[in-house]
Amino acid sequence: MESPLSVNLEKVSHIFNNAVYLLLIVFFLLGNFVSFYFHFLTVTAFMLVLINVYYLYIQKQHALLSNFGLLAQIRYMVESIGPEFRQYLFMSDTEEKPFNRIERSEIYRKAKNVDSSAAFGSQLSFGPNEIKLRHSMYPVHKEDLKPFSVRFGEERNISNLHIIKKPIMISAMSYGALGSKTVRALARGARKAGITMNTGEGGYPKYHLMENCDLVFQMGTAKFGVRKENAVLDEEKLSELAAKDQIKMIEIKMSQGAKPGKGGLLPKEKITKEISELRGVPMGQDVVSPPFHTECTSAAETVKFIRRVQEIAGLPVGIKMCLGRPDEFSELVHQMKTQDNYPDYIVIDGAEGGTGAAPKPFMDDVGVPLYAALPIVQKILTEEGVRDKLKLLSSGKLINAGRQFVAMSLGADSIYTARGFMLAIGCIQALQCNTNTCPVGITTQDKKLQHGLDIEEKSDRVVNYINNLWHDHEEMLASLGKKSHSQLDRNNLYIPAQF
Ligand SMILES: Cc1cc2nc3c(=O)[nH]c(=O)nc-3n(C[C@H](O)[C@H](O)[C@H](O)COP(=O)(O)O)c2cc1C
Repeated sequence: MESPLSVNLEKVSHIFNNAVYLLLIVFFLLGNFVSFYFHFLTVTAFMLVLINVYYLYIQKQHALLSNFGLLAQIRYMVESIGPEFRQYLFMSDTEEKPFNRIERSEIYRKAKNVDSSAAFGSQLSFGPNEIKLRHSMYPVHKEDLKPFSVRFGEERNISNLHIIKKPIMISAMSYGALGSKTVRALARGARKAGITMNTGEGGYPKYHLMENCDLVFQMGTAKFGVRKENAVLDEEKLSELAAKDQIKMIEIKMSQGAKPGKGGLLPKEKITKEISELRGVPMGQDVVSPPFHTECTSAAETVKFIRRVQEIAGLPVGIKMCLGRPDEFSELVHQMKTQDNYPDYIVIDGAEGGTGAAPKPFMDDVGVPLYAALPIVQKILTEEGVRDKLKLLSSGKLINAGRQFVAMSLGADSIYTARGFMLAIGCIQALQCNTNTCPVGITTQDKKLQHGLDIEEKSDRVVNYINNLWHDHEEMLASLGKKSHSQLDRNNLYIPAQF
């Protein structure tokens, strides 16, 4: 039986629709007999009637509109602004995803150089699934900490080593996914903070190069910027790029956590004339990169390709991947041993990683999450006796010192973050990176939306974020009783039994 309190939508919409017709008549009469100004309302009511007739009798795509007319449209409108309402009014500080408000405001505060300490107690979960860090009963003095340094390429004894002095780099995000002002703000911030930035797979890094910071040039599966027909490597273009002063390393992207087994995706809405030229792709259609490098169809070929890129570039060369099948990773490592050739680094990107655009099932259900993947990779590399042949990097929601320390304790030598830096320059997690409508101008090509993004101001946020993160790193190292990051290992972790 229908509850006396339940709303009969059909009845309500019937009354609502008739009210619109009635209003038209009332305003028309008032306009004729009381004051001409009522005709402004007559016109408005007339428009509403026309729209209502269209919804009810003409359009066929939406059953809800056909059945309920304007009232259904109001429902669609309320639904579309639901996320904003929930975000600002109803959701608790720990509810939002992928980063809740507590996590985001820590980054905002760090980036603005505002005290990010908190009171009363942590609001995070302390359930049995949480990995935590173990402190030492005997913390070290901060003055006794050793400077951080990772030397890429030292294992191969190459002359063009790339040395980083802080364990955090800006992870791959292409010009295309990001707007030009964002790229410049991040690149300028990277230069000021003395950190390295990855170009992403967006082709010739025109805007990155303007800011003169240390760069990792990323070569995606479409090889934008260094490609011939059919995504085949153009050696000459790669060698020209690698000769540039700012390009310190090359990264071959095999896969990424948000869409492993799929190539990059740039929605057509974001392809401007300039982007189509820089990437060598047509305008007006989505650009989907191939799911793998044409040169890499087996472990043996992949290792050969790594060597080829190392020889052409004369720089440290890494690969980026999301872990899928451990047996395939083992096979890759065997091939490295057989050919006695190793990438200078491997980045493990967790399945929880971010993206400018990706198919939802891949974001949600494909790939191994970072904290599960890192121990597998570290174990295989160690058991095969090749852990000292390369550096291990990691990414996947490593936006604060705590998570970065967990990853480093699980084997990573250094950290990449993408969304950490997006938040630092003002990302409000509107989740619109794929629609060209980013309200803060970070992931859009729309000049009007980019208007509010001041390159100099945002570059300072990058510097503040890094400095404050580094402060946390020093404090945490000391409390863990370690003198350097290289001393971090699994003993520093409280790991629940199921891991
Ligand atoms: C807007 C955006 C664009 C990205 N573009 C690329 C890309 O071009 N190449 C790539 O390998 N990864 C790309 N990524 C993935 C990041 O580099 C990184 O691996 C992932 O987001 C995990 O790091 P995070 O959790 O700190 O963001 C992108 C991520 C975002 C959010």
